[in-house]
Amino acid sequence: MSVVPANFESERLAVGSAEHRRLLGQFFLDTHVEYVPEQMHWPQLSDEELMRLRSLPFWQEAVSTENVTSNTVAAAAALEADPLVRQAIELQGFEEMRHARLLVALASHYHIPVASPPPFTPRSLESDFLFAGFGECFDSFFAFGLFALARQSGFFPPALTKVFEPVMQEEARHILFFVNWVKYRRLQLPWWRRPQFRLRCAWIILRQVASRVKTARTMGKPQAADTGSGENFTLTAHQELGAEMTLHRLLEVCLAENDRRMSEYDARLRRPRLVPGIARVLFRVLPASV
Ligand SMILES: [Fe+2]
Ligand SMILES: [Fe+2]
Repeated sequence: MSVVPANFESERLAVGSAEHRRLLGQFFLDTHVEYVPEQMHWPQLSDEELMRLRSLPFWQEAVSTENVTSNTVAAAAALEADPLVRQAIELQGFEEMRHARLLVALASHYHIPVASPPPFTPRSLESDFLFAGFGECFDSFFAFGLFALARQSGFFPPALTKVFEPVMQEEARHILFFVNWVKYRRLQLPWWRRPQFRLRCAWIILRQVASRVKTARTMGKPQAADTGSGENFTLTAHQELGAEMTLHRLLEVCLAENDRRMSEYDARLRRPRLVPGIARVLFRVLPASV
């Protein structure tokens, strides 16, 4: 894929400056990759591979999440006065909808029952964009590791992981854009409104953490056979990769993959720190057997 060459010069960019804003919009537009989900070449799967694919519980949840995110992001473009940043947010909305379309195309090709969800209307442009963005920071981080493990273990055939590689890299771009946008946005506010913005972000992050903790607490507990719940699916999906897979190993792979994917972009953009930071602490304190 075409990416902006990483800039490893020590040059620091003033966050919130016009240069930061320009880089934010330009990096996003320059690294967009063209593909059409409906024209995707889907690989032939063996009966066993097909069964494994169909048995995964999260297809509907994944389509619904991408649909909500897509509608939320597309609407949030209206928040931006700057044409370049607005165009970048619109493009992200398009890419999220393309993720939903790709999942629907996969489901239709391999006969997995998935309903196309109705359009979602955000209640608050900014709060819903922040909620979706911070949610993506958690989900994408775990998705990077799960994707690498699925590829290494042969859980999915290589031809299928190749189809989803651009999606993973797009999610890395999305969260990189988002964390920089949040900082940029805060610094556009008058100084006296910035603490309130920080508090709102902290509250949203807490809600996202609480939701993941709730999911983590149910991990390993027997589920009712017919619940079919795929909530926070990136957090629970590692259980599908086999009994020997531990949370400790998952965190290790997520951290490495996050660094690898982020290293493709201009080093002057600020990196997501919160979720990798939490993961690094957990990785250090958890015994390897967990
Ligand atoms: Fe997405
Ligand atoms: Fe995304």
